[in-house]
Amino acid sequence: MTTLGTPLSPSATRVMLLGSGELGKEVLIALQRLGVETIAVDRYENAPGQQVAHHARTITMSDPAQLKALIEAEKPMLVVPEIEAIATPMLQELEAAGTVRVIPTARAARLTMDREGIRRLAAETLGLPTSPYKFCDSLEELQAAIDGGIGYPCVVKPVMSSSGKGQSKIDGPGDVKKAWDYAMAGGRVSHGRVIVEGFIDFDYEITLLTVRAMGEGGQVQTHFCEPIGHLQVSGDYVESWQPHPMAPAALQKAQAIAQAVTGDLGGQGLFGVELFVKGDEVWFSEVSPRPHDTGMVTMATQWQNEFELHARAILGLPVDTTLKSPGASAVVYGGVDAQGIVFDGVDQALRVPGVDVRLFGKPESFVKRRMGVALAHAADIDTARDRAREAASRVKPRKA
Ligand SMILES: Nc1ncnc2c1ncn2[C@@H]1O[C@H](COP(=O)(O)OP(=O)(O)OP(=O)(O)O)[C@@H](O)[C@H]1O
Ligand SMILES: [Mg+2]
Repeated sequence: MTTLGTPLSPSATRVMLLGSGELGKEVLIALQRLGVETIAVDRYENAPGQQVAHHARTITMSDPAQLKALIEAEKPMLVVPEIEAIATPMLQELEAAGTVRVIPTARAARLTMDREGIRRLAAETLGLPTSPYKFCDSLEELQAAIDGGIGYPCVVKPVMSSSGKGQSKIDGPGDVKKAWDYAMAGGRVSHGRVIVEGFIDFDYEITLLTVRAMGEGGQVQTHFCEPIGHLQVSGDYVESWQPHPMAPAALQKAQAIAQAVTGDLGGQGLFGVELFVKGDEVWFSEVSPRPHDTGMVTMATQWQNEFELHARAILGLPVDTTLKSPGASAVVYGGVDAQGIVFDGVDQALRVPGVDVRLFGKPESFVKRRMGVALAHAADIDTARDRAREAASRVKPRKA
C-alpha cells in the first residue's frame, strides 16, 4: 500500500529531482498534484522546475561531494535523475548505504550516463540488435574502426553528450577528421572517447515509452504507450507525433526489446526506449530511464502524460497508458542569444484549432535552445503535425 503525506509537515513525502529543465518541471507539477513535497535541483538558478517546486537548490550535480552533502541534508525519500551528467557512482554509494532510493535504480542511472554502459549492456549482455559500433579514443582508432568493418556511412558521437551535440555523419574518408574534431569540441566532459556506429538506413524511428509500475499483487508490471514517431534534425528532436503506425511484427519486436532492456535496468518509473525500424526489422538505439523529450507530445495525446506516469510509477501507484487522441508536438527554439526574452504571437498560436503551448520559462535563451513546445491534437497525426508546426511557427521569441 502506498501512503502519501502532507507537504511541509513532518509526514511529507519528499522527492528530489536532479535536473529541473522542462521535463523535470512537468514531473514536479505531477508530483505537486499528489501533494508530494518537491526539491528541484539544477546547476543554475531559476531553472524551469525550480519555479514550481517547494524548494530550489543549485549545485554542481557532477560533483560527488556536493551531491552527497545535499542528499544527506535534505533526506528525500526518492531521488529522481532528470539528466545524465550526475555523479552516478555517488548515487550508487548512497543507495547501497540505504541513504536514499534512486529512480529507477542507481545502476540504471550509471549505465545510461554515457553511451558505453548502455550500449554494451544492450548489445553484448542482452544480445539485442543494435547498429554495429566501436568505441575509440583517437582519430587513428576511429579510422581503424571504420576500415575494420564499420564502413561508410557511419555516425560519430562523443560518449558523453545528448541532443546531438558533437554528433556527425561520415559519408567517406574525407569526413573522418572533421567528425573527430567536432566530437571533441561537442562532448560534455573533455575526455576524447567516441562511439562510431554503422549508419542504419531506417524507414522511421520511434520512442517507445515503457512504464514499470507496481501491480495489485505487489509485482512490477511493464506497460507500453503507443509508439511515438519523431523527426530529428542534427540529432535534436524538432517534432514528434503519436501514435506512429507500425506493422504488428515490428511493434511486437519493439516491445520485446523495450521489455528486455527496462527489465534489466529494473526499478520503477517510465523509460524512453529509442528504436530504429525498417520493415519488420527493429534496432535498439538508446534508452532514457526517465521521461523523454519526444514524449512531450503525450501532454496532448494521453489521459496520463509521460510525466504523470513517471510520478505515479515511482510512488508505487497504478498507471494508465491509454491514448486519448492522436496528436503532435513541435519545438519552439530561442532563435536569439539573450537573457529574459519575450514571446510574441502566443495568441496567434493558440488560434490554431486543437493547439496548446508550453513555454518553459528558461532564464536564458540561445539560438538553438528549446524554449517551448506547441502541442496539438486532431483526428489523425498528419493534421496534428500541421497544427503543431503552424502553432510553433507563430510563437516568435525575441530580445526584450
Ligand atoms: N547509427 C545510426 N544510424 C542512423 N541514424 C542515427 C544513428 N545514430 C543516431 N542517429 C540519428 O541521430 C539521432 C540522435 O542520435 P542519439 O539518440 O544517439 O543522440 P543523442 O545525442 O542521445 O540524442 P537525444 O539526446 O536527443 O536522444 C537519432 O535519433 C537518429 O535520428
Ligand atoms: Mg537519442
